[in-house]
Amino acid sequence: MSNAVVERAPAKLNLYLEVLGKREDGFHELATVMTSLDLADDVTVTLRPRRQGLARGIPDVTLEASTLAPFVGELPAPEDNLMSRAAVLFLSTRGLLHSHGVDLELLKRVPAGGGLGGGSSDAAAVLRALGRSHDGAVDPAALTPLAAALGSDVPFFLYGGTCMCKGRGEQVSPIDPPRSFDVVLLLPPFGVSTPAVYAAMQAPALHASTTSVDHDALVDAYADADTARLRALYRNDLEGPAARVEPRLARMLAGGGVGLSGSGSTLFVMGREVPATVCLEDIPSIECVRSRAGGR
Ligand code: C5P
Repeated sequence: MSNAVVERAPAKLNLYLEVLGKREDGFHELATVMTSLDLADDVTVTLRPRRQGLARGIPDVTLEASTLAPFVGELPAPEDNLMSRAAVLFLSTRGLLHSHGVDLELLKRVPAGGGLGGGSSDAAAVLRALGRSHDGAVDPAALTPLAAALGSDVPFFLYGGTCMCKGRGEQVSPIDPPRSFDVVLLLPPFGVSTPAVYAAMQAPALHASTTSVDHDALVDAYADADTARLRALYRNDLEGPAARVEPRLARMLAGGGVGLSGSGSTLFVMGREVPATVCLEDIPSIECVRSRAGGR
């Protein structure tokens, strides 16, 4: 039971993000399509017997992190980061806190603060690995309540591929079959605060959870991996607020031809080439990275 499990923790893009209104709990009700990327962190998780001599009540979870990511912010501190919290939550819900510990290793490639969901994906990878180690299999539906307690985007990463996500993001419906397609990621050398972007939106109170997404058209476009149709269906209601919070994004977004992932800062193009209309000089030292989206 103490073998290490290695999980890929892919980044994500939001290909469609509609904000339906602000809820009474302060979160925003969403209809969003998320797709996983081949850009990924590596997460290694070892479930083992609890070390002797630790004070009672202190969870036995260790974390070592290193990075290959461009423009990475601070690496997660060993305590109180989303990966450690995922491990503690799993141990406590399975009644293992007094008998077991977890060692976590993270090799980071996904830049932080970029709307790519790196931290959420790392946490989901911890839950999947512990599911494999302890339960013998990963059951995304059974792990979803734990994932949702950690963050709105975490449940998506239990599934991967391309999914329609509703509620605050935690109600996940896979769009099958998973088909992959090319994207170019444009990674600015700065991140954007998600709470600041939602606050800048000043969304009206939620009245009805009716989305204007053309679900059938989206499913057809994904089934064909048709980037021209997917581009036509793209929407992100957080573009305006993100541009107000981070004016360096405003010029790039105003020029058209690029999408914004989540609350930013990552911009992206569906397809293999950045159109000539996109002026990369608007953000000095922005990094272009080719990637594949949608595969599982
Ligand atoms: O769920 P998570 O911790 O990732 O959310 C971070 C912040 O983003 C929240 O505190 C909230 O300010 C904002 N948020 C929101 N509505 C969502 C998701 C996130 O307002 N659906």
